[in-house]
Amino acid sequence: MPTLLIVHHTPSPNCQAMFEAVVSGATAPEIEGVRVVRRAALSATAADVLDADGFLLGTPANLGYMSGALKHFFDQIYYPCLDTTKGRPFGYYVHGGNDVTGAVRGIESVTTGLGWRRAAEAVTVTGEPDKAALERCWELGATIAAGLAD
Ligand SMILES: Cc1cc2nc3c(=O)[nH]c(=O)nc-3n(C[C@H](O)[C@H](O)[C@H](O)COP(=O)(O)O)c2cc1C
Repeated sequence: MPTLLIVHHTPSPNCQAMFEAVVSGATAPEIEGVRVVRRAALSATAADVLDADGFLLGTPANLGYMSGALKHFFDQIYYPCLDTTKGRPFGYYVHGGNDVTGAVRGIESVTTGLGWRRAAEAVTVTGEPDKAALERCWELGATIAAGLAD
């Protein structure tokens, strides 16, 4: 069964709301035959990544970059996974206070290095996520999961 790995750093209720919406989309009942694995970024391992067929990443913007937790994840898995995971689909969401540009740039850069294929528009939100923002998160989760089910 294809596996979707969700790697997230979730330090606040606003990030939690986005994470839950992404999980809800990824585990929608109409998407059958995909195993969804969730890992906090500080506990995700290279083995988790090697075992997965696609990825969803979630982070706050911190100090003009992705969170240290997601950066730590990439630092750990980059070389162990570089040879094997090229071409695998991924998507991501970023929550920020006012400017997520650096976090987006960082994620695009490292995933380009890994050779992962972005399979959905990134979802970026500043401030409290409204209904439309949470729907975009749901769509993000559903899109990546449905792509693995095909
Ligand atoms: C140390 C620190 C640095 C931050 N840097 C940024 C930043 O560079 N850009 C931004 O948009 N938000 C920044 N934020 C805000 C966080 O992204 C925000 O607190 C996080 O997404 C959680 O959202 P919430 O506080 O609205 O629940 C920062 C927050 C902290 C604690």
